[in-house]
Amino acid sequence: MDPRALADDVLEMLVLPSFSRIGYDLRRRMFDWERLDRVSLAGRTVLVTGPTSGLGRTAVSELAAMGARVLLVGRDPDKLERTKTELIAWSGNAEVACYVVDLGSLASVRAGAATILDSETRLDVLVDNAGAMFMDRRVSIDGFELSFATMVVGPFVLTSRLLPLLRAGASAAPPSRIVAVTSGGQYTQRLHLDDLQYVEGEYNGPFAYARAKRAQVALMREWARRLRPAGIVANAMHPGWADTPGLAASLPGFREALGPYARTAEEGTDTIIWLAAAEDAGRMTGGLYLDRRRRPFDRIPQTRSSAAARRELWDLVAALSGESPDLD
Ligand SMILES: NC(=O)c1ccc[n+]([C@@H]2O[C@H](COP(=O)([O-])OP(=O)(O)OC[C@H]3O[C@@H](n4cnc5c(N)ncnc54)[C@H](OP(=O)(O)O)[C@@H]3O)[C@@H](O)[C@H]2O)c1
Repeated sequence: MDPRALADDVLEMLVLPSFSRIGYDLRRRMFDWERLDRVSLAGRTVLVTGPTSGLGRTAVSELAAMGARVLLVGRDPDKLERTKTELIAWSGNAEVACYVVDLGSLASVRAGAATILDSETRLDVLVDNAGAMFMDRRVSIDGFELSFATMVVGPFVLTSRLLPLLRAGASAAPPSRIVAVTSGGQYTQRLHLDDLQYVEGEYNGPFAYARAKRAQVALMREWARRLRPAGIVANAMHPGWADTPGLAASLPGFREALGPYARTAEEGTDTIIWLAAAEDAGRMTGGLYLDRRRRPFDRIPQTRSSAAARRELWDLVAALSGESPDLD
């Protein structure tokens, strides 16, 4: 075994250094990473949800600088326009379009997807990045617990509706890609197929978030399996712990404790860009990545899900959302 891989596997087992900027720094040096800013994405279209803050904001800057046409998908029209203006000024790339979508609302996702289908001719990469943590139990306009609505149901419907555009580039080299931005927090929770919306027991915001992220990863594995014949690849990544407005708002004490060991947004975003752009990454599907290497889906045996459970989750989300993705 490559001694670097062995050292990285040991690092990965020690959660604190792995998820902090120590892990990022060691791996970057150890594996002599390819410089992604030299990769050209000219002619390719990349959609990023949640582009107005944190990791998504950094990702769209980097993708625009690499020459992609960038589709900003967010819920606040003013923030989207501001992001677009800043992005064009910073990168000199005017190929930027805004689409208003609240991922917590089925009607908004469907309307936004319809506008994207009318306006765009191709989609090479869909980055499912938007996310949030809610400290008390809230319900979406459609009656779903809000973490589940925003990070599971909304992205499922958006991906499903945009399949015709993803398919347009599927057989090309590199193939179309889906990148799901999850969280290391998903390791702490199992799939709760019997209580997807956290009705039972006392609600806990970080647990609800981790359950939604666990479900997001399980669905990504299903997308990867079901889209394999179509030549579309799907992978998930988690950023470790990155200092973003999202981290500051949801876990201020944890952010303070991390101090200088928190990753920067650029460091947290690196594997998103790698999965979206690197040639090697286009040949892989169905994995979970941190710092450009595939990682286990589970760390605790009790959280492991079977293939049958993941299929059941797909069917439940399809039934709840009324969406049946056209996979043919
Ligand atoms: N930072 C970390 O250490 C960390 C760790 C693990 C996982 N993550 C994941 O990484 C992703 C990005 O997080 P971040 O830290 O960059 O957070 P952030 O700074 O709060 O950014 C989150 C983005 O998601 C958008 N968003 C939230 N709810 C939405 C909705 N209903 N519809 C549409 N857009 C919505 C926000 O839009 P507004 O600007 O309109 O609010 C914002 O653009 C999330 O999925 C998060 O769970 C982050």
